[in-house]
Amino acid sequence: MTHILFEKKGNVAVAAIDRPKALNALNSEVLEDLNTLLDGIEADSEIRVLILTGSGEKAFVAGADIGEMSALTKAEGEAFGKKGNDVFRRLETLPIPTVAAVNGYALGGGCELSMACDIRICSETAVFGQPETGLGITPGFGGTQRLSRLVGPGMAKQLIYSAKNIKADEALRIGLVNAVYPQEELMAQAEKLAETIARNAPIAVRACKRAINEGLELPMDEAIALEEKLFGSCFETEDQKEGMTAFLEKRRHEPYRDR
Ligand code: CAA
Repeated sequence: MTHILFEKKGNVAVAAIDRPKALNALNSEVLEDLNTLLDGIEADSEIRVLILTGSGEKAFVAGADIGEMSALTKAEGEAFGKKGNDVFRRLETLPIPTVAAVNGYALGGGCELSMACDIRICSETAVFGQPETGLGITPGFGGTQRLSRLVGPGMAKQLIYSAKNIKADEALRIGLVNAVYPQEELMAQAEKLAETIARNAPIAVRACKRAINEGLELPMDEAIALEEKLFGSCFETEDQKEGMTAFLEKRRHEPYRDR
């Protein structure tokens, strides 16, 4: 991968979009690197949580690459949107939990990338926005859909129609991020959260992700039935046996083994 820095720390993977000359903007190459990153993560059973961030101090991702988009035809625009949407959807449905550590500008495709992650935390310097209508386009990597699902259609419409950016405190207020930290603490906090998640039973955590994501798309009766199936499936795991036996024996459970 040319534009993604990758590091594994125990069961946690940290990936940083790294295209400093364009504030980590997403061109076709970065989108292809994201696909390669996901191939590697899916193939590595040790990885239980993925943290996604931007390299440098200034930007998470400053959007899709405006230079690359500027001369696209209608058909090419649609294809570029599909290229981003396909990889973002893959990220969203990755079996393991994902945390976006937003360390600066998260605009357009950058805000959309953070929204394809399960959890967003950010630095005090973070700036979020969907500036697309100011450039003559719509959000193109899922922004119209994920922003309205996350913060409600009224606030999403205001942000998207106005193309106005918001700072970290406003992102927290509207529920776009879960927490705001000083810049120098962001990655440590992201890793702490990821490690906490990684210590819990991996099969159960992955089942929770499926239940929430897939359940949100279903009528309540079907969503509840999906939870029942996933709940039941946990009783076939060694981690469930160990977790409950340890509780009953009043001892700390052995580290979960993902079995
Ligand atoms: N695409 C391509 N290049 C970008 C970029 C982007 N989205 N964002 C920043 N860059 C480049 C700049 O062109 C500049 O390059 P040069 O040094 O070669 O001129 C470099 O990164 C540094 O940027 P600035 O000089 O502009 O830095 P700044 O501190 O003055 O401003 C900023 C920072 C406010 C983020 C500003 O760069 C900016 O507004 N960027 C564009 C943000 C944007 O509109 N994003 C949405 C894109 S559309 C989209 O994402 C569609 C979609 O949904 C798929």
